[in-house]
Amino acid sequence: MEIAVRKFDNKKDRCAYVLSQIEALLNEEKDMTAGLANASAVMNLLLPDLNWVGFYMMRGNGLVLGPFQGKPAVSHIAIGAGVCGTAAQSGDAQLVLDVHVHCNHIACDLASASELVLPIRANGALYALLDMDSPVTGHFDNEDLIGLQPVADAIGWWISQIGV
Ligand code: SME
Repeated sequence: MEIAVRKFDNKKDRCAYVLSQIEALLNEEKDMTAGLANASAVMNLLLPDLNWVGFYMMRGNGLVLGPFQGKPAVSHIAIGAGVCGTAAQSGDAQLVLDVHVHCNHIACDLASASELVLPIRANGALYALLDMDSPVTGHFDNEDLIGLQPVADAIGWWISQIGV
């Protein structure tokens, strides 16, 4: 499938484009692994300055690595550990401007400098996390958080629809 890589001069329009591309892709998909793998590939293609983007899935008492783009990453994270575990514990998005001064961060790729983690809710509960790393300090801001949470929400809605 061909996805046009368009240039945007603002994050709001870029996030809306990412959302439209992921919604179109998931609309045709009923398999969890295939859908999440392609969603991570679309974000990697369309969002600038990322060195890792992917999913951690809630499994029992912790998080397990899901489909992603980037270097190999820690495959199991305890609730409360690192930025992802904090998001899992609180259910809230985590925006870390500088991972090097953040006291609770698990380094997977030494190139990572900032991180955004968004909750994905499905069937009324926290189901997974969307995790993004950037090699640029302070790369993510509130515009990313507000612009990309609808992407996480659309993925959560799709997960509820495919019935897992
Ligand atoms: N930095 C994350 C771990 C996952 S990697 O970024 C892919 C954390 O602190 O939870």
